[in-house]
Amino acid sequence: MKITTIILAAGKGTRMRSELPKILHKIANRSLLQHVYDMSRQLENNTIKIIVGHGAEQVTEALKNLDADWVEQRQQLGTGHAVQQVSDQIADSGTVLILYGDVPLLKLATVKLLINNANDQSLALLTVNLANPSGYGRIIRNATGQVTKIVEEKDATSNEKQINEVNTGIMAVQGKQLKKWLSQLNNNNVQGEYYLTDVIEMAVADQVSIITSQPETEDEVLGVNNRIQLSHLERVYQYEQATSLMEQGVTLKDPMRFDQRGSIESLGQDIEIDINVILEGKNSIGSNVKIGANTNIKNSIIGDNVKIFANCIIEDAVIGQSSRIGPYARLRPESVLANDVHIGNFVEIKKSSVAAGSKINHLSYIGDTTVGSKVNIGAGTITCNYDGVNKFRTIIEDGAFIGSNSQLVAPVTIGKNATIGAGSTITKDSPENQLTLSRAKQMSLAGWQRPVKHDCMDAGGSVMSGTITEEK
Ligand code: UD1
Ligand code: CA
Repeated sequence: MKITTIILAAGKGTRMRSELPKILHKIANRSLLQHVYDMSRQLENNTIKIIVGHGAEQVTEALKNLDADWVEQRQQLGTGHAVQQVSDQIADSGTVLILYGDVPLLKLATVKLLINNANDQSLALLTVNLANPSGYGRIIRNATGQVTKIVEEKDATSNEKQINEVNTGIMAVQGKQLKKWLSQLNNNNVQGEYYLTDVIEMAVADQVSIITSQPETEDEVLGVNNRIQLSHLERVYQYEQATSLMEQGVTLKDPMRFDQRGSIESLGQDIEIDINVILEGKNSIGSNVKIGANTNIKNSIIGDNVKIFANCIIEDAVIGQSSRIGPYARLRPESVLANDVHIGNFVEIKKSSVAAGSKINHLSYIGDTTVGSKVNIGAGTITCNYDGVNKFRTIIEDGAFIGSNSQLVAPVTIGKNATIGAGSTITKDSPENQLTLSRAKQMSLAGWQRPVKHDCMDAGGSVMSGTITEEK
């Protein structure tokens, strides 16, 4: 069956108090509209049409990669008017699904049920019972419980305002029927708007019954109007992801203090994640991996049995099995670590590969470098890879030992099993198996006296003559 999804997204979002159109605000680093799109994209045989208005240019530019038709509603004259913009693009056969661009957490299962409930004899409407229904359209039912119409809050009588069942705005309806009813809408109501909700009464008049269903949770149908609601839905979404990870066998020390802004491509078993960890982009995490508190991991692949200690920043990196990272380590893009590599505290690695069993344990910068296996890089080692214009590579071959506080001025190669003496500035290739060092000779001056510090003021604040004489 053919589906046309119409996403209403023309509204202004004044209460966000933002330059950015409301639907471009993000949950888990994905815009609200993108969330709605991604969910509906999973429906088969589906054409998506997005109605934009406020900030239309900005929205279409930001989301130009979506496989959807963009339609502009120049004036926002109501939800019915918004859908009318695509009336002539709706096929007679097939189902139309109406979604809101600012209701980001709606679930596919909820939408599928609506679509299944819509046919020539019935319109499917998603409703929800709210403890505080104010502001929403109320669902009016007759004595036998059938829905007869929706009354907007502003048009409702005080009795109708007592009703807790409200319209979510989300519905599924046959194309041919919708087109007919859209053409009959008027704006004779308190707000002077063309209400999409008026089609309910028209359907009933045409002997089309209204089948209602409800979402599993209220959060699914909550819209975002301000930043407080945005933060609420962010937490709801994050908790859902955390729950899903725990169901897959991940231990989260606190699911309330975990954020995933992206996807997990592959997930091992018995992963342990401490508090305040942020996973961004696409990550793969192997089995028995431990991730310490306050660590950010973005677009990275982490092998089995890796231990990442607290406060690490890892981006576009590959970490081989059984390696240990941190605490306080930074792996910048294109850091590729083989198995059993140790990267310790205050170490920064960039665009470098480190082969198996090598250790860079303290206070080092390794950039544009190829590090062989079983290399030991001492504390405070720096690869000087940049002359202000060009970047150069450093090569450190297998088994080399770099003494602490060494600078390796690239381009330079440290040969296999070479040793570099502590405190060296290495500007030329260092041969295999030898000790290379460059170090100013140490000297001691006999009879040298340490300068003495004098007080220049006495207690009364006047200059002490003795001191001055001495200084002359
Ligand atoms: C609408 C429903 C109300 C329901 C509520 C749920 C109508 C008349 N009322 O209320 O029954 O309880 O949603 O939130 O349908 N939009 C446009 N163009 C317009 C007007 C709105 O694209 O001209 C879009 C908005 O961007 C938003 C959605 O439609 O995504 C709903 O608009 P909003 O003004 O929030 O809803 P209400 O009309 O207050
Ligand atoms: Ca409105």
